[in-house]
Amino acid sequence: MLGAMLQAQGFNPAMQEYINTLKAQAKQENPNFKDFSSSEGEKIFKLKNQGKNGEMISCQSCHGVDLKQGHTNAFTGKAIPALAPSANPTRLTEVKEVKKWLKRNFKDVFLREGSAQEKGDVLYYLIKQ
Ligand code: HEC
Repeated sequence: MLGAMLQAQGFNPAMQEYINTLKAQAKQENPNFKDFSSSEGEKIFKLKNQGKNGEMISCQSCHGVDLKQGHTNAFTGKAIPALAPSANPTRLTEVKEVKKWLKRNFKDVFLREGSAQEKGDVLYYLIKQ
């Protein structure tokens, strides 16, 4: 319980509300659901899959290995500012943006929308970066 509270510490109230919604959904998907896991989120973030253009890509293909630095979009070549909230405080602050990009980016890499569990895991990982 304490661990869960510490992990969620970095979210602003609107984002915490979104996390709570994801938790409720995750519980519906799996009655044994307890909490999200940043280590599972890290695995998802690093996992390579045959993505949108038939290439093996991961979240890191566009966001880089060091999330405190910007990276280049693997598809468009455009610059993407750092994803780590510690380096880029605007990150994970706007629920609308987060929802939109999680949906789109999961489809880029995994060719499907992430489950509530997967989205929550990834957000627990990213908020600590
Ligand atoms: C094809 C390139 C690409 C891939 C692959 C990709 N992203 Fe992104 N991501 C973007 C772009 C472009 C944006 C929007 C521009 C920006 O925010 O800098 C973005 C934004 C985001 C945001 C919004 C952050 C915020 O609050 O502003 C999150 C969260 C995110 N990505 C997570 C992920 C996750 C998780 C994965 C893997 C499932 C992933 N991304 C894979 C390109 C990518």
